[in-house]
Amino acid sequence: MHPLIFSERYAPDSENQENSVLVFDIGTSTSKIGSNHDDGPIDIFPTILGRERDGSKTRMVGCEAKYHIGDEAHCKRGILSISHPVANSRIEDWNAIEKLWEHCFTGCLKVVSNGKSVLLSEPPKTSKNRDSFFKNTRERTTQIFFEKFEVQDFFLANKSVLAMYDKGHLSGISLDSGDGGSFAVPVYEGYGLNYATTYSSVSGIDLTNHLATLMMKRQNDKRIGCNLSEFENYKTMKDYFCKVALDYDVDMEKFNAGDFEEKGYELPDGTVIQVRNEQIMVGEALFRPELADFKNSDDEKSNYDFFGSVQQSPLLEKLGIQNILYNSYMKTCSSIRRDLLQNVVLSGGNAMLPGMKERLWNEMWSRVDPAINLGKFIKPTSSPVYASWVGGAVLSSLSSFQDMMITKSEYDENGPNIVHRKCFM
Ligand SMILES: Nc1ncnc2c1ncn2[C@@H]1O[C@H](COP(=O)(O)OP(=O)(O)OP(=O)(O)O)[C@@H](O)[C@H]1O
Ligand SMILES: [Mg+2]
Repeated sequence: MHPLIFSERYAPDSENQENSVLVFDIGTSTSKIGSNHDDGPIDIFPTILGRERDGSKTRMVGCEAKYHIGDEAHCKRGILSISHPVANSRIEDWNAIEKLWEHCFTGCLKVVSNGKSVLLSEPPKTSKNRDSFFKNTRERTTQIFFEKFEVQDFFLANKSVLAMYDKGHLSGISLDSGDGGSFAVPVYEGYGLNYATTYSSVSGIDLTNHLATLMMKRQNDKRIGCNLSEFENYKTMKDYFCKVALDYDVDMEKFNAGDFEEKGYELPDGTVIQVRNEQIMVGEALFRPELADFKNSDDEKSNYDFFGSVQQSPLLEKLGIQNILYNSYMKTCSSIRRDLLQNVVLSGGNAMLPGMKERLWNEMWSRVDPAINLGKFIKPTSSPVYASWVGGAVLSSLSSFQDMMITKSEYDENGPNIVHRKCFM
């Protein structure tokens, strides 16, 4: 039985920060940082690191290159070499991620890492995320936290399972769709079922690229791709104006008949551009990726690599979000399927697209056993972007969490592979 069931969450004592657990949710695009004594992450910043370029005028001769992290790197990106330590939710640049973790302690929380307790989120294990890669990443991460940061206790937690805990759910299917792709993870009595976890590489970055492509085509802009600040504008347009259609063909007809409201977006130079049927075309690509010109991993480097150094999804399958939900559901044992489907928890930034919940309901209704009541089966989290962080704070506030964490003495005795024995969920 999962410890969540039996234990009581201890009341965080804001006077006493000594027994707090620091919660780090480092996403592909955004890092959410805080302690489990906080109501929400106290620092949220872009997961990027910028290094002063060789020969930079601001760099003293003989001095080491300076690094900037998060918003600072973003502001100065024109004069820095930018690195994205995480791609598709996986760590891809170890030097950069170490500096970013260090920043979480000293820059965000203003604490020394030595002697602290840390819960760090990790992506779910999928069949695409090769065993050896997954294992090595976990061990190397654990080693860095104990040996470089000298933490006292450490725990690695599946970010999609954490999102289920956001509202205290222990069983259901977590449908988590952010900038690293989309994961459907069945969770039973608090534990993620790896064998039934499914993944689609369609990510929020892909959706933004898709909007940029559509808008540039319509404006007869023949360039391939746009620069980073244009990309940011398209991302804002997507976050403000895009939605998921309940019936795409019907809504498209309305757009084609002129029966729609254009949304105007003012660029920094004062030009206003209109978002038309792109409002529903972008969200549709989450359900029907074949409508967008997304590339697969085995393809040549994508034409839609708009942002220079940002890595494009390296290759994985592009599946509709409703298909990963359905596939996960079908991979579970038939005796628990009905219960799992009563509780589909939506999280990640793409879950903010209006209409997601209704469209998913429609898609699933036509596929599952009609005897299953899909009345209120989808439960959006209160704040989808922060759901994994909040779930981490909930889990780490349980009195039983103390026994779940890897302690320093356990690490010293067993080495990094203790992570596989202690951190599973
Ligand atoms: N209101 C919104 N409408 C549509 N999309 C949104 C909205 N708010 C955020 N997003 C999108 O969500 C994505 C970021 O989601 P999120 O912060 O969950 O990802 P992440 O945690 O960085 O990545 P990971 O997938 O690795 O967990 C971005 O593509 C962003 O544009
Ligand atoms: Mg995330």
